[in-house]
Amino acid sequence: MEHYFTNNDNLKSEFRTIIYKHGDEITEFTSDLGVFSKDKVDFGSNLLIDTYYKYGRKNVKVLDVGCGYGIIGILLAKYMNTTSTLIDVNKRAVHLAAMNIKKIGVNAKAFESDIYNAVSDTYDVIITNPPIRTGKQTVLKILTSAKEYLRPSGELWFVIRKDQGAKSIMEILKNTYNIEVLEKSKGFFIIVAKND
Ligand SMILES: C[S@@+](CC[C@H](N)C(=O)[O-])C[C@H]1O[C@@H](n2cnc3c(N)ncnc32)[C@H](O)[C@@H]1O
Repeated sequence: MEHYFTNNDNLKSEFRTIIYKHGDEITEFTSDLGVFSKDKVDFGSNLLIDTYYKYGRKNVKVLDVGCGYGIIGILLAKYMNTTSTLIDVNKRAVHLAAMNIKKIGVNAKAFESDIYNAVSDTYDVIITNPPIRTGKQTVLKILTSAKEYLRPSGELWFVIRKDQGAKSIMEILKNTYNIEVLEKSKGFFIIVAKND
């Protein structure tokens, strides 16, 4: 079975447009077969973005882990003036993210990385809607290893569903970070994990 995080060079392409509305403004994203939530903005990602608009820091350096077609990192660059770096293990996702960065015209870049293997910089904010379907090990690796790529006052932002083990993941992360739940909606938790 194909997963949205599998690289498949034979997968056909059917571009589609995802419309994102913020106030009166519209941003159009190009999406395609073979990427996560290819036809609409995912509910969890949208909640994470909205929560960041409310409580997140502007003008900072952000790393979007598992970027898909680029929605999170690009919107933070557009509306929070962040300098965003977008990474994904899925080549098609990275390609779409790069296309969207160019089309939308934001201060961001995208490259391929299996978790953090191609990342060498440090960031003020690491943000992710983690790939739950890859299994808990990958999700925990993304969340716990983020610490190595965060600046001293850095923050890790993520969304996770209650029934996908939000509570147990928070328990584990308490050993590494100060955890705060910023938002809860329809079983989705928006969590910020701080370094200090
Ligand atoms: C839940 S999706 C979120 C996609 C996008 N950020 C959004 O909000 O629509 C998780 C993403 O993680 C990516 N992913 C899976 N395994 C990964 C890994 N080992 N390293 C980096 N990204 C990975 C998937 O390809 C997918 O794009």
